[in-house]
Amino acid sequence: MPVESESELDGMLSEPSERLVGLMRRLKGDISILGANGKIGVSLSIMAKRAIEKAGVSKEVIAASRFSEEGGRRKLEEAGVRTIPCDLLNVEELAALPRTENLVFLAGRKFGTSGGGEPLTWAMNVLAPANAAEHFKGSRIVAFSTGCVYPPLPASSGGCKESDAPAPVGEYAQSCLGRERVFQYFSMRHGTPTTLLRLNYASDLRYGVLYDIASKVWNGEPIQGGAAYFNILWQGDANNYALLALDACETPARALNITGPETLSVKETAVKFASLMGRQVRFEGEFEDKSYLNDAREAFSLFGLPSLKAETLVKMQAEWISGGGKGLGKPTHFEVNCGKY
Ligand SMILES: NC(=O)c1ccc[n+]([C@@H]2O[C@H](COP(=O)([O-])OP(=O)(O)OC[C@H]3O[C@@H](n4cnc5c(N)ncnc54)[C@H](OP(=O)(O)O)[C@@H]3O)[C@@H](O)[C@H]2O)c1
Repeated sequence: MPVESESELDGMLSEPSERLVGLMRRLKGDISILGANGKIGVSLSIMAKRAIEKAGVSKEVIAASRFSEEGGRRKLEEAGVRTIPCDLLNVEELAALPRTENLVFLAGRKFGTSGGGEPLTWAMNVLAPANAAEHFKGSRIVAFSTGCVYPPLPASSGGCKESDAPAPVGEYAQSCLGRERVFQYFSMRHGTPTTLLRLNYASDLRYGVLYDIASKVWNGEPIQGGAAYFNILWQGDANNYALLALDACETPARALNITGPETLSVKETAVKFASLMGRQVRFEGEFEDKSYLNDAREAFSLFGLPSLKAETLVKMQAEWISGGGKGLGKPTHFEVNCGKY
């Protein structure tokens, strides 16, 4: 059945797994989510709240962000999540946040880095994590990172494993490794149990690699060359894994890849969309077998396989776009494999 509306989609993205409900029964303390007003944070915070309610326990979810975009704060408050406006680069505002036993850290900056935005990107991706790691030194911390800390690889590699050495390309990816290093440093210094989630492309139907490809096919725009392959993870599964990772935090900090088990070809996926949506597909430029790919088997062994397969997501995405479903207007630029964002 196609997803009919944004409210139905929001409900799916924040549906907690039984395993997460079970975790909430035994997890001690409240949960803070920093950088909660982004593409992932709103549904992740609401999932945490719904899991707590289903578990029948008393626990607060506190979402902090600047709340610079409309809508997210209202959705959070309506779901019973407490919201606190906070600029994480302002040490006084950060110091006023309640110190909860659990923290999920999502804030970051990517686009606008190249060509003058580098200082702000480093501040957001390294300084803000340092401020947060110091303030929340007594917490369990799950911090979002990215698969971009690894080098882009051929599809035959099967993707990078956690044991592979990071080799970030470009300043955005380098600053993300900086974010990891800062959380590792504070984990060692204060004994803070920490998990670093190296995510490759969450898929909501309103944004993500599948949205980017499908909307181009639908609008008759060419699919631009660049990275030839990609991994994706249904955002509901990304949220679920991130909250379950509170139970997998270690000292010193551990890195954990999260993505789906499939490696998808950009060209084959575009052709599939064309066939599902009754459109033609055009390609422009060279496709390079050098893409950001993760091997997430460690996460599957800890938390199970994702609830939705890539094939199902492709079908849902085609139905969403051809049914007039909205997009966020936030392209992933997944085709970039040279590190410039
Ligand atoms: N989405 C993906 O597919 C993906 C893939 C790989 C890695 N990641 C990582 O996962 C994390 C979350 O992803 P996302 O897609 O949800 O990112 P996002 O949409 O950029 O959300 C992050 C949110 O952090 C908040 N923020 C930024 N600067 C802040 C500041 N100074 N103080 C307080 N809050 C601030 C922003 O909301 P306000 O403007 O309201 O403050 C922003 O919406 C990111 O760090 C990213 O590196 C995401």
